[in-house]
Amino acid sequence: MKGVVLAGGTGSRLYPLTKITNKHLLPIYDKPMIYYPIMALVDAGIRDIMIVTGGRNSGDFLRLLANGKEFGLKHLDYTYQEGEGGIAEALSLTEHFADGGPICVMLGDNIIEGSIREAVEEFQRHPVGAKILLKEVEDAQRFGVAEIEGDRIVGIEEKPRRPKSNYAVTGIYMYDSTVYEKISRLVPSERGELEITDVNNAYIREGKMRFAFLEGWWTDAGTFDSLLRATNLVAAKRKAASARPEAAPAR
Ligand code: DAU
Repeated sequence: MKGVVLAGGTGSRLYPLTKITNKHLLPIYDKPMIYYPIMALVDAGIRDIMIVTGGRNSGDFLRLLANGKEFGLKHLDYTYQEGEGGIAEALSLTEHFADGGPICVMLGDNIIEGSIREAVEEFQRHPVGAKILLKEVEDAQRFGVAEIEGDRIVGIEEKPRRPKSNYAVTGIYMYDSTVYEKISRLVPSERGELEITDVNNAYIREGKMRFAFLEGWWTDAGTFDSLLRATNLVAAKRKAASARPEAAPAR
């Protein structure tokens, strides 16, 4: 399965940090933000990755990432989103890259503690419809929120004032190739964007949405508070890993 990292948009919530650079190039502890979603996809076994960038600093992505050698990749694909018409608009630009196959999409400001390998492998075995990953949070109003009945997801509301659950829809999505046709039928939301939540609800209406719960911590990094939180979580993870005793040498 191919992978997509969405790193368009202006990052206006992080102004003035984003005045002269792109949000996804800002540091999260010891690495630029965009490294984390790429590492998550690579860890899940995905080798064919397209980055969607935008704004005035898109050339810096190429300078930073080049062909992805640092991630063990031979090649990276790039495309450019003009303006910031929303996550679904950014995704629509990857249709030629997907070439009729399924894709795993990760938002460029999402950072996870664990691995999505199991979820990706499960979707690869049945690459029909869509699959999203949910995480229980305390501040559900900030996210897309899933309404669950039994073992079914019956709807998603984008940033609801009164969330129907504490299950945030993380920025990790798996889609079959019908996603592009679904995006082409969307109309812009009140905030003037093509919403990924509308795409996901289209799959739910068709009865073709699966979900799983993400293990380990998850955070976005698009506000001052979540940027700090992401840095602290990554730093703690790194320090815990380096404090672990080395595996005993083989005899
Ligand atoms: O982080 C998970 C949340 O991400 C979901 O729970 C929400 O359902 C989903 O709408 C999204 O919410 P945000 O409002 O936090 O998304 P934001 O506008 O911050 O964009 C997240 C990433 O998507 C951003 O880092 C880059 C990419 N993006 C966004 C826009 C608006 C694009 O590539 N192009 C865009 O035009």
